[in-house]
Amino acid sequence: MNNSLSQRGQTASQSALRIDFEAYFEAVKNLYHETENPEGSFPLNIAENKLSWPILKTHMMQLANQHAIPNWVANYTNSTGSITFRDKVASFYSKFLTGCKINPEHLALSAGSTSVIDLTSWILGEPGDVAVFPAPCYPVYKQDIQNKSGLERYDLITHHHIKDIENGPLLSVDHLNKALKDIENKGKRFRILVITNPDNPTGGMYPQSKLNEFADWCISHNIHMIVNEIYGLSLINTQHPELKDDYPAPVTFYSFANIMQKKQSEYLHHWYALSKDFGASGFRVGMVYSLNKTFIEAYHNLNGPSMVSNYTQWMFELVFSDEDFVEKYIKTNQQLLTENYLIVVRLLRRLKVPYAPAQGSLFVWLDLSEFLKENTQTLETKLWNDLYNQTGILLTPGNGFGHTQHGQFRLVHSCFSQKELEVAMDRLAQFIKNKRKS
Ligand SMILES: Cc1ncc(COP(=O)(O)O)c(C=O)c1O
Repeated sequence: MNNSLSQRGQTASQSALRIDFEAYFEAVKNLYHETENPEGSFPLNIAENKLSWPILKTHMMQLANQHAIPNWVANYTNSTGSITFRDKVASFYSKFLTGCKINPEHLALSAGSTSVIDLTSWILGEPGDVAVFPAPCYPVYKQDIQNKSGLERYDLITHHHIKDIENGPLLSVDHLNKALKDIENKGKRFRILVITNPDNPTGGMYPQSKLNEFADWCISHNIHMIVNEIYGLSLINTQHPELKDDYPAPVTFYSFANIMQKKQSEYLHHWYALSKDFGASGFRVGMVYSLNKTFIEAYHNLNGPSMVSNYTQWMFELVFSDEDFVEKYIKTNQQLLTENYLIVVRLLRRLKVPYAPAQGSLFVWLDLSEFLKENTQTLETKLWNDLYNQTGILLTPGNGFGHTQHGQFRLVHSCFSQKELEVAMDRLAQFIKNKRKS
């Protein structure tokens, strides 16, 4: 221990951000390349979308050539985002994401969704309060709500087997009532419900009716409900001829902003970021939208350390100004995501590996638990390592997603071209076949 640090600094020095980061950076050093490194590895564990970056990059380079940097970029701006950029974000939301009118005064911007989650938790909860997430769920929420704000993560179990969610997420008001009772019995307060829509890792989508029910339930219990739509435009074409049988009742994406607009409640909030739909995680742009005036005021006063750089705001202001480009970009991105998703699903179907049909996101949530002799974390970690050591494929281990069934993994399909992903899937097929033989 280093006594020169605060107690919390010492704790932080011992708390890894992600258990698979080290393996990721190792895998990246030895990346697959068709001719230069054909034995190289396939890191499929970090939620990045690299498919459409060439399109956005070309467009950004053209914009940078056509426009001189305005002087305001070099100065301080409003801590929650420059007024001109927030105006553009509001029109982008209305036209492409939410479908309803957005008042830019209800928006606040921070350096990525991580900052948004961190600050939102800090403002809404007291240390020891509980935030509830339907399991399995994005592991890093735990750190984001806990590291600074001291909130606790509660993984709400709605099912045990992947097959149970083949028609989408199962969360119901009954589950929420049970979680409330459980949390109160432990002497704690259920403070926030977080829904990710489309979901990370399952790619499932919540219908309007469910979102509406949950919002009513939360409002009636004075619980904050937040919907994270960070994958809101990363939709899979469920009508694709090869895919449509997986979706007997496809759900249409319905933005929570519409429900917020109708209910006008101080308990409802919405998160978004450009990290996934625009493959721009490195630009660090995250947003919170809330009709709670005091929340936005607090956010404004606290956001100084997490502001988005003005250069980035300016660049995306230009990108969003060209609505024809944005429209085409979203459409092409969805086509590319669907094609990559299909490459993975074709293999899983052929080998009869269970998976959750995704309606959106960058993932396939799949089940390799047939290879675990017992349902334990240790055996899951061994399988995860064996897969990486034998094939170079690095998946996101189920550990941290808060689920009861071990042996489930998240595969990010959007980091490699179709041709490269085919190679990775050949290796995965070989691994599964060998394991079944032995
Ligand atoms: C559901 C969810 N929220 C937040 C984040 C973090 O996003 P950002 O890079 O914008 O901080 C991720 C990234 O994987 C995510 O999947």
